[in-house]
Formats: sequence, structure tokens, C-alpha cells
Amino acid sequence: MKVLVTGGAGYIGSVMIPIFLEKGYKIICLDRFFFGKESLKDVSSDSNLELVKDDVRWFDANLLKSVDAVIDLASLSNDPSGELDPLKTLDINYLGRVRVAKLSKEHGVKRYVLASTCSVYGFQEGILDEASPTNPLTTYAKSNVLAEKDVLTLADDRFTVTVLRQATVYGLSPRMRFDLAINGMVLGVYKNRKIPVMRDGTQWRPFVHVRDTSKAFLMVLESPENKVNKQIFNVGANDQNVQIFPLAELIKETLSVPFEIEWYGSPDKRSYRVNFDKIKNILGFVPNYTPKEGAKEVYEALENNKVTDSLKTKTVEWYKHLLEANKLLEEVILKDTLL
Ligand SMILES: NC(=O)c1ccc[n+]([C@@H]2O[C@H](COP(=O)([O-])OP(=O)(O)OC[C@H]3O[C@@H](n4cnc5c(N)ncnc54)[C@H](O)[C@@H]3O)[C@@H](O)[C@H]2O)c1
Repeated sequence: MKVLVTGGAGYIGSVMIPIFLEKGYKIICLDRFFFGKESLKDVSSDSNLELVKDDVRWFDANLLKSVDAVIDLASLSNDPSGELDPLKTLDINYLGRVRVAKLSKEHGVKRYVLASTCSVYGFQEGILDEASPTNPLTTYAKSNVLAEKDVLTLADDRFTVTVLRQATVYGLSPRMRFDLAINGMVLGVYKNRKIPVMRDGTQWRPFVHVRDTSKAFLMVLESPENKVNKQIFNVGANDQNVQIFPLAELIKETLSVPFEIEWYGSPDKRSYRVNFDKIKNILGFVPNYTPKEGAKEVYEALENNKVTDSLKTKTVEWYKHLLEANKLLEEVILKDTLL
């Protein structure tokens, strides 16, 4: 089976692709490589992996001709990055994904899986499942809601469409992200014995390990069409819903090192507690990892210099840097033209 993974060199993709290769899948990774492609260096010589540097908004659709399934991970991948240039965000995260899905269908691809997010629930009381109303509060979350709706309407007997609303991911990846709550807290403890906690700490978030969310995508591809077609699944586990302050306490207990809490931000407007029964009951998905295990592996990797907190590991900071560099380049080109 040949799978095209968009955004495959990112945090999730660079964990997912080696798992898929190990299983014997052929993979095309279509990515702008905004964070480089070093994250795939351990598998780059695998003859079943093809790397294509291109953009979901304008890649040549002939690439899809021999593809059986698409996993659509490419996006500006968090709330702050999505606000840097909201129109670009809608262009990539909404229209870009709908383009990938439509072209996939036109080119005979059998399955399409959208990497969405539980942040579509925004702020709500109670425990939310796939049938609950969405309440997207940011451009990032709104783009996901729009993309979900449009790609699901493409589903039919020949084109299986599945939406996976992932919880906030944690754990080690070769394209490390320290802008994710658990990873960021561990980095804070490691660097200056301070855990950054977003005010007021009572907000709920669901979590899932990066290897577990990768497994969920694999399970969807390997499930019969009638179980997954035109379906939305939350990806996570009921017992990995945690409030942010208790999460800091959990990290403290896990790492057993002294630290202080460092409060930041104005009170978080996002809080959502999610029900994950559907993916468990229909696909048999049960995570293998817990936040404690994820925190430990990240801390150990920091201690052993297997990972560092370069600018690239803070997604919004890196995109800001790329946009600045772009602006400079445009200024130079414009100057040349005027001259
Ligand atoms: N990491 C999480 O906690 C989390 C949670 C829920 C949902 N998601 C979603 O899962 C997906 C993967 O997330 P991630 O953490 O791996 O993000 P990431 O930022 O690490 O990876 C995204 C990849 O997409 C690529 N990309 C961005 N714009 C592109 C474009 N226009 N064309 C081609 N490639 C492009 C980037 O170069 C990058 O390699 C994203 O859609 C994200 O919104 C992530």
C-alpha cells in the first residue's frame, strides 16, 4: 500500500513514517520542510520512502496517481502560529487540505485521513464527544472545523474519509516541539527549575502520546471502510484529560526535582474535557503511554543531549523567523526590481 503523508517531516509525521515503513508501507512524504528534513534522516535511505518538497496549495496532482491513501498532516500547527497571518492559515489549513482531499478523490485514492484537533471544542463545560457542538475560538481551530466539514462531504463508497481529532500530543520526536504543554513543562524544569503554567491552571486538556496518535492513524488505514468512512474520532483516552495545574503537579511527582511554578498569559479561554469511548469501542484503540512516561522520556533525552531547545522547537517563534526572512527577501527583490 502506498501512502502519501503531507507534513510528514513534522513532529507527528517523523514518528509516524518510520512506524509505517516498518510495517511495509511505501510512503511519499510531501512537505515544505519548514523545519528541515533531518527529522527523517534515520529512514532517508529506505527505498520505500520518497521525499517531495512541495506545498499542499500547489503541488502537481500527478503525484497522487499511484497512491492508495493520504494522511493529511500539513498545517500551521497551533493557535499562535495560526494568528501570525490568519489568511495564510485559512489558505493552508482549510483550503489546502480541501484541495488535497478533492484531488485525492479525483485521482482514485481510496482513503483520506484528516489530522484535526480536539481544540475544535474550544471552551465548553461537561465532557465532549464527537457529537457535541464545536466552539472554535482561534483561526487554527476554525480552519479545522471548516476543513472537517468540507472533506467529510467528499466521502462515498469509493472514497473513505476519516477525521481524527487529536488530543494535545506529547513525547519525543526527531522534530521536537517544546511548544506543547507537557514537553514545554519538562523543558522548563530541566532548564531553570520552573514550570510554565498558563493562567489560571483550572483549564482542562486531553493528551495523547506521539507514538499513540501515530498508531491511531495506522488503525484507521487498517480498519474496514464501513467502520471509519465519514467518521470523526477523538484520539486520546478518558484518563488522560488533565487540568493544567494538576498536570504541573504530575510532572513534579514524575521528575522528583524541586521547581517553582511560573505563571504566564491571561486566563486561557480554551478548556475542554473529551470523551474517547468511540475510538476505543469501534477501533479498539487504547494508548500504550501515559503523560508520566512521556515526561520522563523527554527529560532523559534533554539530560543525555539527545534533544535541545533550538528556535525550531518553538513552532510560532520559528514561523515568525521565517516570515521575517521572507519579508527581508521580498524587500531585496523589490529593491532590485526598482533599480
Ligand atoms: N502536535 C499536536 O499536539 C497536535 C494536536 C492536534 C492536531 N495536530 C495536527 O496534526 C498535524 C501535524 O502536527 P505536528 O505537531 O506534526 O505539526 P508540525 O508543525 O510539526 O508539522 C507540520 C508539517 O507540515 C509542513 N507544512 C506546513 N505547511 C505546509 C504546506 N503549505 N505545504 C506542505 N507542507 C506544509 C511543515 O513543514 C511541517 O513539517 C497538524 O495538522 C496539526 O494541526 C497536532
